Amino acid sequence: MTKEIVFATNNSHKLSELRRIAGDSWHILSLADIGCHDDIEETADTLEGNAIIKARYVKEHYGYDCFADDTGLMVDALGGEPGVYSARYAGNNHDSAANMKLLLEKMKGVKNRTARFRTVIALAQGSDIKIFEGTVEGEITETPAGCGGFGYDPVFRPLESDRTFAEMDGDAKNAISHRGRATAALMKYLLA
Ligand code: IMP
Repeated sequence: MTKEIVFATNNSHKLSELRRIAGDSWHILSLADIGCHDDIEETADTLEGNAIIKARYVKEHYGYDCFADDTGLMVDALGGEPGVYSARYAGNNHDSAANMKLLLEKMKGVKNRTARFRTVIALAQGSDIKIFEGTVEGEITETPAGCGGFGYDPVFRPLESDRTFAEMDGDAKNAISHRGRATAALMKYLLA
């Protein structure tokens, strides 16, 4: 029997990535699917903290088992920036094009371009919180390439590939991505 769980997001890209990974085993509901239109503020200064805030909020206010993710892009030459502030790097309007532009400006002329994406997933089930995570190492390109994916995908090239995430199809990205790896750990636990 297919079981239901909420993924605390309305990001259509993330939902389709997750639904593709979960297959038929779990029915993944979005925040909109459960009628949650609340603005859940991410006030923690760690990825773990923000993921826990979102997963707990849904469990406490809507009663559903829920998982939530938070992702950061850590660039070594920038001391780990934008990190937990990746979504708000160029300001509070969560504008991916502006975030990427600012990142490329800061990286202009910088030789060391190593970076990693890290995703943390918090699962709120019953009264328990469990944490899963995934990381992918790569580098920041000089210019954007590709039009798939979302966020910083056009400027991030994983070590395993000569293409940016935005130049890969969904399955190829999921197979090696931070969220793909964190989700695989989550799914392994949910399906055990
Ligand atoms: P959040 O986890 O949705 O808050 O994401 C934080 C920031 O990282 C946002 O700017 C996202 O666009 C970006 N981001 C999250 N996941 C990915 C990804 O898989 N590829 C590129 N950017 C991402």
